[in-house]
This record gives sequence, structure tokens and C-alpha cells, in this order.
Amino acid sequence: AYSAEPFLPERGGLSSLRKAAAECRGCPLHRAATQTVFGAGAAHARVMLVGEQPGDQEDRQGKPFVGPAGKLLDRALAEARLDPADAYVTNAVKHFKFTRAEPRKRRIHKAPSLREMTACGPWPAAELAVVEPELIVVLGATAGKALLGSSFRVTQVRGTVLEEEIHGRRERLVPTVHPSAVLRADDREAAYRGLVSDLEVAARALS
Ligand code: URA
Ligand code: SF4
Repeated sequence: AYSAEPFLPERGGLSSLRKAAAECRGCPLHRAATQTVFGAGAAHARVMLVGEQPGDQEDRQGKPFVGPAGKLLDRALAEARLDPADAYVTNAVKHFKFTRAEPRKRRIHKAPSLREMTACGPWPAAELAVVEPELIVVLGATAGKALLGSSFRVTQVRGTVLEEEIHGRRERLVPTVHPSAVLRADDREAAYRGLVSDLEVAARALS
């Protein structure tokens, strides 16, 4: 089976994880992508935000949430008064998965499969073990399924504080929609307000 496990370092903090992840060949997604996009932020951040996978911009720049979804997320975090200095941002899957409608044309995001999410799981698990955040903000269904299993339904639990066992540790989580889903929504303003209000739940859970 595909797995990142053989590529994990035996010890070390975020920088050794990041170095090792750059060499990960645990599933086929590394082949077409430019580079591994590892998490970013304070090593002992109070909140860990988990997205799906890097997008086009993230793949080029090697950093999570630097494209349009990231800009929207930054704005929503500020509105919810979550301090970016308290946040570590990462993804369930570390390589960009995409298709092209035509050769040399724009790369179109493709959702990772369950196998790929499972293969990549050891990386977010290792990040959690090192950062030990007080709270995890789950951004969308893919991150939720990756962390909590395939029965996760974002619409049922968004904006609530959950307590769940993840990789043998008791974690507090606040799920919300993915910022990319806000960008695609018919009523973008309403979707954005919903994201901010869920993030305010997270901010209150921290204080
Ligand atoms: N969407 C994600 O889930 N993660 C990113 O890093 C960028 C867009
Ligand atoms: Fe490794 Fe994850 Fe990239 Fe697959 S997506 S090669 S498991 S880092």
C-alpha cells in the first residue's frame, strides 16, 4: 500500500520533518507535482489549521495557503481575531493533485483519493505530535475525513467544538468549510460569513 511511513525521520522537530517530507515518495502524487508543500507557522502554535492539499500557487511557491483560498482564509482569521502568530497551517495531503484539460493548459485541482489521504496521513500526524496545538481547525470535508474518518460530515459538525481521538491523542477540533468552497459558493458573502462565524467559535474555544 502507499504510505509516507518509510520516509518519516526517527526523531527531530519540524525542520527535520520538513526536510524528510521533501523527499517523500510514499504515493504517486509526488511525480507530477513541483514539490512537497509542508506546513508553516509557529512551532508551538495554539491552533493548527488543516486544509486539503496545496493548490497551484502553493505547489509553485512551496508554502501552504498562499493562493486565492489562502488570501480569503487570512482575511477570515483576522476578522475572527485569530492571531496568525498563534497559527500553524498545513494540509492533509502534501502534494498538489491536478489534471489538465489540454496539454500545457491551466492545472485543475483534483480531490485526493482515500488511498492518497491515508498514505500521507503520517505527515499531519507527526506535525500534530510536534506542535501539540490546543485546538485544530478542520478546513472542509477532505481534512475532516483524513483526520476523523470517512463518516465525517462537515455540514453536521461545523462551528462546534468536538473532542476526538486522533492517532492516540485526545484533540479538540472545530470543523468549518474549506475557503475554496467559499470562493465557489453561489452566495459568496453568506458562505464567507459562515466561515468567519465558525472561526469565531474556534477563537472563543482558545481564550
Ligand atoms: N487549499 C488547501 O487546502 N490548501 C492550500 O494550501 C491551498 C489551498
Ligand atoms: Fe508523500 Fe504525501 Fe506526497 Fe504522497 S502526497 S508523495 S504520501 S508527501
